[in-house]
Amino acid sequence: MDPQPHIRFLLNGTEITASDVPATQTLLDYLRIDRRLTGTKEGCAEGDCGACTVLVGRLQQGSLRYEPVNACIRFLASLNGCHVVTIEHLSGPDGRLHPVQQAMVDFHGSQCGFCTPGFVMSLYALWMQCPQPTRTQVETAIQGNLCRCTGYEPIVNAALAVNTYGSPANDYLTRERTAITAQLEAMQPKVRVEVGPADNRAILPVDLNDLAQVLAETPKATIVAGATDVGLWVTKFMRPISPVVFIGHLEDLKTIALTDTDLTLGAGVTYDEAEPAIREAFPHMGDYWDRIAGWQVRSMGTIGGNIANGSPIGDTPPVLISLGAEVTLQKAGGQRSLPLEAFFVDYGKQDREPGDFVASLRIPRPAPGQIDAAYKISKRRDEDISSVAAGISVEVADGIVTEARIAFGGMAATPKRAAKAEAALRGQPFGAAAFEAAAKALAEDFTPLTDWRASADYRQLVAANLLRRFWLEHGDPAQAPDSQAVA
Ligand SMILES: Cc1cc2nc3c(=O)[nH]c(=O)nc-3n(C[C@H](O)[C@H](O)[C@H](O)COP(=O)(O)OP(=O)(O)OC[C@H]3O[C@@H](n4cnc5c(N)ncnc54)[C@H](O)[C@@H]3O)c2cc1C
Ligand code: FES
Ligand code: FES
Repeated sequence: MDPQPHIRFLLNGTEITASDVPATQTLLDYLRIDRRLTGTKEGCAEGDCGACTVLVGRLQQGSLRYEPVNACIRFLASLNGCHVVTIEHLSGPDGRLHPVQQAMVDFHGSQCGFCTPGFVMSLYALWMQCPQPTRTQVETAIQGNLCRCTGYEPIVNAALAVNTYGSPANDYLTRERTAITAQLEAMQPKVRVEVGPADNRAILPVDLNDLAQVLAETPKATIVAGATDVGLWVTKFMRPISPVVFIGHLEDLKTIALTDTDLTLGAGVTYDEAEPAIREAFPHMGDYWDRIAGWQVRSMGTIGGNIANGSPIGDTPPVLISLGAEVTLQKAGGQRSLPLEAFFVDYGKQDREPGDFVASLRIPRPAPGQIDAAYKISKRRDEDISSVAAGISVEVADGIVTEARIAFGGMAATPKRAAKAEAALRGQPFGAAAFEAAAKALAEDFTPLTDWRASADYRQLVAANLLRRFWLEHGDPAQAPDSQAVA
């Protein structure tokens, strides 16, 4: 069957059909340049400042889910079958401000105003999901929005008061939900979609078999899931990436299966989608999860992308390796699974054959006696890349460490296990002395680099101190090592 030669989506209240869509055209450029919807601002063009925040609604197992996304790194072609909502759509037909906007005015949440549309969209998304948020929920929701003027306190106060201005039940997106769902259902393609010129082509496979087929035909194509890495290759480095195979819409890659023994996540599951299952199965990862990027990036970025990018400083690999996770790769010929640590071969090199894509990840749930921790060290608490990240997992029986799995990011060319430190713990009494020996053994495991995030000495000291910290948090305080050693 011939591919569908156009994409279809809803922009505010208008249905759009577009065929001339280059793969790398961003939603932000489309809104501001093609549609003159200039309420959505461009600050950084790299997903950091949130000035470009819009809502994207998409069908997930038949129900409509709205998320805040960074329009600057979201590619237009990936929005087939979605509903894009911009700031222009918030005020009513009579011009009255939306409750979120009115609260921002009344609480002096806007000064120069450049960041304001982005904040309003993030707070709008929060209000719809959680009309009476706590202060912590507000702060988490605006992690991905930067303001140079107001100092955040008035914005947080506005967010806490929005519910007194109106109820989400009366909001347009709630009232029109059934009609919008029907419109989006009618837009879901029955065949592969292909748009854009030959040198900037976008392909949206119709299902997983079709994805395998596309990659068998064009193994050098660029896979794009959430585009939170690839978006920057385009906006910052102007890198040609055609042909592009978008996979973020594939429901088959969005499975989340939690059993008594494992959590299996499809590669296309976003951080936001994974969060409830992660918190349930691995409570120690809850706070760590909130430290990954900001809400917009967590709404777009996928687990598969964080693994497949092969970055030595991705946040999920060290923690997943420490938990004994296994990755499944798929291609037209079938599937194969391997321990996640074996996937990372060298800097920029993963164990992937032509046509392979990351299909899923299986994470075993903790065994009895297993103690786990996840640590992220970065310059800023929020929305920053790790200088060092660690996953530490030890099993203890009758006071003896029977197994230790320790993995670090930011310490080597790949996310890597600390074999010597693990050996220093295994078979030893679960005590301060063993952790001190493990901390010292790290010097044999790693020779980190100095870069603008951290010096080699800092990384080495921090990694050792994270092992000491693990003991302080999970061991017997009476046996604590010299507190001076702890960062
Ligand atoms: C502002 C900002 C903050 C960030 N903060 C963090 C942070 O705190 N911690 C962190 O770890 N990362 C962070 N990132 C990086 C990024 O969000 C993550 O790496 C994310 O998980 C990438 O997923 P994605 O779906 O967006 O990947 P994409 O950008 O779509 O793809 C990334 C790479 O993976 C490949 N790929 C994607 N899916 C598959 C698949 N299923 N099979 C094979 N290849 C695939 C792509 O071809 C590409 O090479 C941040 C990014 C931004 C823009
Ligand atoms: S313009 Fe800064 S996040 Fe998009
Ligand atoms: S009001 Fe000026 S940047 Fe936020």
